[in-house]
Amino acid sequence: MAHQMDLDTIAAYWNGRAVEFDSEHDTEDLALWSQTLEQAIGLNGDGAVLDVGTGTGFLALLLSKLGYAASGVDIAADMLAQGAEKAKCFGLQVDFQEAACERLPYADETFDAVVNCRVMWTLTAPEEAVREWKRVLKPGGKVISFMRMMDMTGGDFYGGIDLPLTVGTREAYCEVYDAAGLKRITVTELPEAMSSQEPHWTMFVGMKP
Ligand SMILES: C[S@@+](CC[C@H](N)C(=O)[O-])C[C@H]1O[C@@H](n2cnc3c(N)ncnc32)[C@H](O)[C@@H]1O
Repeated sequence: MAHQMDLDTIAAYWNGRAVEFDSEHDTEDLALWSQTLEQAIGLNGDGAVLDVGTGTGFLALLLSKLGYAASGVDIAADMLAQGAEKAKCFGLQVDFQEAACERLPYADETFDAVVNCRVMWTLTAPEEAVREWKRVLKPGGKVISFMRMMDMTGGDFYGGIDLPLTVGTREAYCEVYDAAGLKRITVTELPEAMSSQEPHWTMFVGMKP
């Protein structure tokens, strides 16, 4: 279970990185990201989509641009503030909310898809989180996770808090999806052009039955 004290420590870590985050995380080919996201969701911009661990709003802003009713949650208020600033700047609509992705402030079956990018490795309780994402999905809705496949075991990101997915294997991610009750799980290796600076992207899709 994700404990509040751990979540506070994690929020403080990301709040401390908020200002530099975008310049340190290159996702250069935005057209390719948009196309990949739209193909995975498959609703032509017609639907409600939640970006969990949205940070500075990378996927949430793309979703809004694609025409989706976009929402984004994160525990780090300073990351969200950067996202809100960008949304204002680009004239995009995103409903940003400060919340833990294991305890979402939404009713059951609210969203057509729940997406996330670079988030699952940072979670203390990934299976609990995916179950919560599944709860807010409509039946037939998808969880879509973008992750770089890197083994980060041994790294101490939050001062000793255990992060089960730092191992970074595709099998480990699929096991979490499966344990949370998602079906029709697919794993897609994405082209290097997604980001030359940060390679090895994989997309995991699972459906709520
Ligand atoms: C590596 S950043 C990714 C941000 C964004 N998705 C992107 O790709 O640019 C990880 C984000 O996950 C958020 N996060 C970590 N644990 C979380 C949790 N339990 N609930 C909500 N957000 C969380 C952090 O605050 C941080 O903004």
